[in-house]
Amino acid sequence: MYKILRKQTLNEQVKLMEIEAPLIAKKAKAGQFIILRVHENGERIPLTISDYDAAKGTITIIFQEVGKTTMLLGTLEEGDSLQDFVGPLGKASHFPEDIKKAAIIGGGLGTAIAYPQAKELHRLGVEVTSIAGFRNKDLVLLEKELHEVSDKVIITTDDGSNGNKGFVTDALKNEIESGENFDLVIAIGPLIMMKFVSQLTKQYGIKTIVSMNSIMIDGTGMCGGCRVTVAGETKFACVDGPDFDGHEVDFDQAMRRQGMYKEPESEACNLFKGVE
Ligand SMILES: Cc1cc2nc3c(=O)[nH]c(=O)nc-3n(C[C@H](O)[C@H](O)[C@H](O)COP(=O)(O)OP(=O)(O)OC[C@H]3O[C@@H](n4cnc5c(N)ncnc54)[C@H](O)[C@@H]3O)c2cc1C
Ligand code: FES
Repeated sequence: MYKILRKQTLNEQVKLMEIEAPLIAKKAKAGQFIILRVHENGERIPLTISDYDAAKGTITIIFQEVGKTTMLLGTLEEGDSLQDFVGPLGKASHFPEDIKKAAIIGGGLGTAIAYPQAKELHRLGVEVTSIAGFRNKDLVLLEKELHEVSDKVIITTDDGSNGNKGFVTDALKNEIESGENFDLVIAIGPLIMMKFVSQLTKQYGIKTIVSMNSIMIDGTGMCGGCRVTVAGETKFACVDGPDFDGHEVDFDQAMRRQGMYKEPESEACNLFKGVE
C-alpha cells in the first residue's frame, strides 16, 4: 500500500498528492510516469511524476479530475493509501547536449507535466522561458514554481482574465519573432495544442518535443493500447515515449484514438457522480 503523505488543492479541478514510494523515488527521472490503482478493482491510470525526492522517498503527482478514476482519487485524504503505484515507467526525457535556450510550453494541466522538464533544463544550466496557457486566471497552476526554474515566465489565458489574452502559440510566436533563438521547444498539453505548437516551430526549424498522453493499459509495451504513429512508424507511448519529436507525430490519428472510449467513460463518470 502506498500512503498519501500530503494533499493540496491547486485549483477547482486539480490536486497534488505526495505519495510514499521510496523505491520509485530512488530511480525516478524527469519525463517518466507511474501507473496507479486506487483500489483492488479499480482501473489503472497513468500520471506523470511531477516531482520526486529520493531522500524522503516520495513521489509527487498532480492530477486533473476529468473522469471516474481521477475523481475517486481526489476523494482520498492524507493518511489514506493507494492499492498500487507502479513505476518509474517510460523513457526519461533526453535533451540534446548543445541546448542553450529552451521554451517550455504547458497547456492547462500539461503545465504540471512540463514543470519537471523546466526544472531539469534549469538544473543543466539552460536558459528557460516557460509559457503556460489556461482557460482563465482561476485555473493558473504552478506559477511560483515555474518562476523558480525559469528565466522568464509568460502566463496566457484564453479569456484574458489575467491580462495576457491569447493562446500559448501566440506567445511563442511573439518570442520567436522578437528575436529569441530557441534551440528546443517542449510542448505538453492537449493534443490539439501540441499539434499547433509543432506546426509553428516546424516553420522556424526549431526542434520540438511533445509528450503523448495516449490511452494506456499495461504500460509495458504489451497491450498495444497506447500506439502512436511517429514518422510513419508505429510506436508505443509507454515504452518508446512518452516524449516524441512533435514534427513527426500523427496528431490527427492520436486525437481520433483518444476519443475511442468517450461513451463508456462518460457513463462510468455519471454513475460515480450519481447522475442519471
Ligand atoms: C504518460 C501519461 C501521463 C499522464 N500524466 C497525467 C498527469 O500528470 N496528470 C493528469 O491529470 N493526467 C495525466 N494523464 C492523463 C490521465 O491518465 C487521464 O486523465 C486519466 O487516465 C483519466 O482517467 P479517468 O477515469 O478519471 O477519466 P476517463 O473517464 O478515462 O476520461 C475522462 C475524460 O478525459 C479524457 N482522457 C482520458 N484519458 C486521457 C489521457 N490519457 N489524456 C488526455 N485526456 C484523457 C477522456 O477523453 C475523457 O474526455 C497522463 C496520461 C499519460 C498517458
Ligand atoms: S500501454 Fe500497453 S502498450 Fe503501451
